[in-house]
Amino acid sequence: MSFKKLYIETFGCQMNFSDSEIVVSIMNDTGYEVTGKVQEADIIFINTCSVRENAEQRVWNKLRELKSLKKKNPGLRIGILGCMAERLKKKMFEEEAVDLIAGPDSYRSLPGLISATLQGQKAVNVLLSTQETYAEIDPVRYDSNGVTAFISVMRGCEKFCAYCVVPFTRGRERSRDPATIIDEAGKLFEKGYREVTLLGQNVNSYKWVTENGSVNFAGLLEMVAMVNPGLRIRFATSHPMDLSDELLKTMSGHNNICKSIHLPVQSGSSRILELMNRNYTREWYMARIEAIRKFMPDCTISTDIIAGFCSETEEDHRQTLSLMEWVGYNYAFMFKYSERSNTIAARKYRDDIPDEVKGKRLHEIIDKQRKLSYASNKKDVGKTFEVLVEGFSRKSKHHLSGRNTHNKVIVFPGKDYKPGDYVHVKVTDCTSATLIGEAVE
Ligand code: SAH
Ligand code: SF4
Ligand code: F3S
Repeated sequence: MSFKKLYIETFGCQMNFSDSEIVVSIMNDTGYEVTGKVQEADIIFINTCSVRENAEQRVWNKLRELKSLKKKNPGLRIGILGCMAERLKKKMFEEEAVDLIAGPDSYRSLPGLISATLQGQKAVNVLLSTQETYAEIDPVRYDSNGVTAFISVMRGCEKFCAYCVVPFTRGRERSRDPATIIDEAGKLFEKGYREVTLLGQNVNSYKWVTENGSVNFAGLLEMVAMVNPGLRIRFATSHPMDLSDELLKTMSGHNNICKSIHLPVQSGSSRILELMNRNYTREWYMARIEAIRKFMPDCTISTDIIAGFCSETEEDHRQTLSLMEWVGYNYAFMFKYSERSNTIAARKYRDDIPDEVKGKRLHEIIDKQRKLSYASNKKDVGKTFEVLVEGFSRKSKHHLSGRNTHNKVIVFPGKDYKPGDYVHVKVTDCTSATLIGEAVE
């Protein structure tokens, strides 16, 4: 059988990248294989993100580019998948160049949707499901380094943070059967993978319930850790509300569970946190950080921060900066607040912080983080870490690149190692983004 060609481009979060691997698996069964060359595609999918205005803007720009391709090749089909398909179904439907629209829970219907487009119709499925987890679909790791992989363990989000579209684009929370997760982790290890990242928008609210009992996230983590001591485990993203002591204890009890936690704080001001509907205060968050330090003194902590949320004062902003300093994050994703229609914030509050002020505050946050990252890296100079090699360094073919348990990138010279090897590396120098070292025996 000869395969038709699929070109797929993914925007947004790790969940979306993981979903694209499910999509490619379904497409393989439908007679399509992935190509890296957009010109030779029979069908193009864009897996989209709605989380901020500029995320959507990037997709609109992409679509503009694709329109000209379609003019040259009228047989080409273009599909919009993911969160923008869900949020902007009507607007997408009106786009002439778009043939197919599929929301995050409707990828099993792609074969049917594609047949409809081949008959010249526009095809849409944006139904959200309360059950779909794609549990038994074997993701195709089409853009992989062969060493690290994502495993999606739960879908959806019901936290309804005031600023966020995700509960609307991804629907209800649901967890995946742990047996299928363990099976996927085991198969990945056999194929040579050495690290898995368990994914969910609120991964630590994972819960699988049957008549014979239930498995929570700590339980799941333990089960995956037992697959093989040579398989590293990470997870993302954790909501502070669900970061239990039980989970921290499980992490501290297994060497192969990496000692780094991504714990988005969003703001350091309790007043803003309440408006954001985050359900914790500054003090409560600090107590969770102290719990992490108690169980794992050397665990690194990274975060997400939003600058210029509705009504944020200079004092609120300073509280964010001081909390960053207090925690000493090793890494942060930092954003200007971007109003999304239909969210609680869009309906209830005014987006009243001028763009220049958001920009100035974001700049100060980025500046602070650069210093914190550098300080965190500087403390590692002289230490030796076990590094899982992922590939060559971007800057030089003579340098390998990998990460340590703390999720820090380490580059070091060497030709005797290959991706998938664990190597002990002594750190000799650093920048704010990278540790630099040399292999030691
Ligand atoms: N589920 C994860 C991540 C969700 S999206 C969590 O709860 O942490 C990733 C990040 O995007 C969020 O943590 C937040 O910092 C940011 N974000 C979400 N909506 C936003 C908006 N409307 N404007 C700016 N940043 C936003
Ligand atoms: Fe959005 Fe909040 Fe859910 Fe994260 S927890 S996805 S920020 S609603
Ligand atoms: Fe974006 Fe959807 Fe992920 S909005 S951040 S792709 S869940």
